[in-house]
Amino acid sequence: MSAILEVRDLHVRLPVAAGELHAVRGIDFTVRRGETLCIVGESGCGKSMTSLAVMGLLPRRAKRQVASLRFDGIDLSSLSERQMSDIRGNRMAMIFQEPMTSLNPAYTIGNQLAEALTRHRPVSGREAEQRAVFLLEKVGITSAGDRLRQYPHQLSGGLRQRVMIALALMCDPALIIADEPTTALDVTIQAQILHLLVSLQREFNMALVLITHDLGVVARVANRVAVMYAGEIVEVGTTAELFARPMHPYTEGLLRCIPIPGRTRRDEPLGSIAGLVPSLIGQQHGCGFANRCEYVQDACREGSVLLGMEAGHAYRCLFTPEARRPAEVRS
Ligand SMILES: Nc1ncnc2c1ncn2[C@@H]1O[C@H](COP(=O)(O)OP(=O)(O)OP(=O)(O)O)[C@@H](O)[C@H]1O
Ligand code: SF4
Ligand SMILES: [Mg+2]
Repeated sequence: MSAILEVRDLHVRLPVAAGELHAVRGIDFTVRRGETLCIVGESGCGKSMTSLAVMGLLPRRAKRQVASLRFDGIDLSSLSERQMSDIRGNRMAMIFQEPMTSLNPAYTIGNQLAEALTRHRPVSGREAEQRAVFLLEKVGITSAGDRLRQYPHQLSGGLRQRVMIALALMCDPALIIADEPTTALDVTIQAQILHLLVSLQREFNMALVLITHDLGVVARVANRVAVMYAGEIVEVGTTAELFARPMHPYTEGLLRCIPIPGRTRRDEPLGSIAGLVPSLIGQQHGCGFANRCEYVQDACREGSVLLGMEAGHAYRCLFTPEARRPAEVRS
């Protein structure tokens, strides 16, 4: 499968009162055409900053530095804001956690859906409306023709998120980045919306980058998983490999926090990862996970930790699982 998105050595820095916050620290990842890549990791580890950096939507004060950022053969790193806005919402779209981030309260749903298409394609208003109705039906909204005349505030949160998905699909994108698209919704609605998103991804053969905290969701929908910690991708691999043989101690810890069908016994207590994510302000020396890692050794706090590789499964740790021993049992 060829790549639709290739990101090499991406950094995002933000000036804050205490110095410079290095939110994304030199990450590399690839999204292949038609696949679902899930990005997981604790709050504050840089997932949203990564997606905003790819979309060219970072806060004004943030600085992006990237060695290579290619989408569908186009070098995004060299585009002007105007050129970037021709691609955004067109071949590449984003779905946010809060639909009102993208929906304008002053315009009807119909206006906003139609405008998403007419901005990028030479179609008539009638054709744009027909596509809007087609997509509202696809996202499970009944009486789609009537809904076009409604304003965002007249819809429930779940319906608004369905409209957001329709909006993202208007120009038939090759890539959608969905940043925690269901977190703001009721639990029962969350599952429906996620199921919808994944079934549309398959039907339209789009690539989907899904950012989520929910490893249960990841296990069900992802082809591949990237695990982020403190601004770095610490492990990336296929879902099957990563769940069967986590290579990074942080991934191991995350997997201990959720029940895994067929592996976790009914009476087994779930684990947690002790400690806190380190400050992202300033330079980091050695492994970013060292202050929480049960296998930490002196070498982990020294130089940079390069990626280890095993059967196409990459991880940022000095040791393989076989070579690691809990700190308290080392002599
Ligand atoms: N506008 C901002 N100004 C300063 N720092 C910010 C800003 N937005 C995010 N950050 C910081 O950047 C780091 C990465 O944040 P980011 O929002 O990417 O995390 P995340 O992984 O998406 O977390 P969550 O799971 O909570 O959404 C965090 O330390 C966060 O506090
Ligand atoms: S490099 Fe060391 S501290 Fe970092 S994850 Fe590996 S064993 Fe733990
Ligand atoms: Mg986020």
